[in-house]
Amino acid sequence: MKIAVACDHGGFPLKQDIFEQLQSMGHEVADLGAHQLDPEDDYPDFARYVGQAIQHGHVERGVVICGSGVGACVAANKLDGVRASICHDTYSAAQGVEHDNINVLCLGARIVGVSLANELVIAFVNAKFNPEERYARRLDKVKAIEASH
Ligand code: RB5
Repeated sequence: MKIAVACDHGGFPLKQDIFEQLQSMGHEVADLGAHQLDPEDDYPDFARYVGQAIQHGHVERGVVICGSGVGACVAANKLDGVRASICHDTYSAAQGVEHDNINVLCLGARIVGVSLANELVIAFVNAKFNPEERYARRLDKVKAIEASH
């Protein structure tokens, strides 16, 4: 799978580990920055890079990391076609894909450590959307909200 990873300064300590975890699983990983620690950078920029990579079909999924995961999640969800969630437990990381078809995982590097973050990413990328009627119906309703803007 093609996956984009990005972070602001708050997420920077975690990004390289996540990048390497995904690569070790055989995925094609695009590192969309930050490429160096810059305390003045802003999470919406990196959420936008990942969201646009999804919108353009360059990647199937993304991981955006900030300090808490909150800002990254808020910003990523502003892009049409992006369904982002913070998942700091593995149940949500997998079920968020299976039931809700999330395509962006948001992580807070100040909240979770490397080991848990790796488990979260593994759960996220290994999960597949369950196309059962009720999940498809709910997803269609989410898409209808987006289309009504
Ligand atoms: C940056 O200091 C921090 O505010 C940001 O990474 C994130 O936690 C926002 O939600």
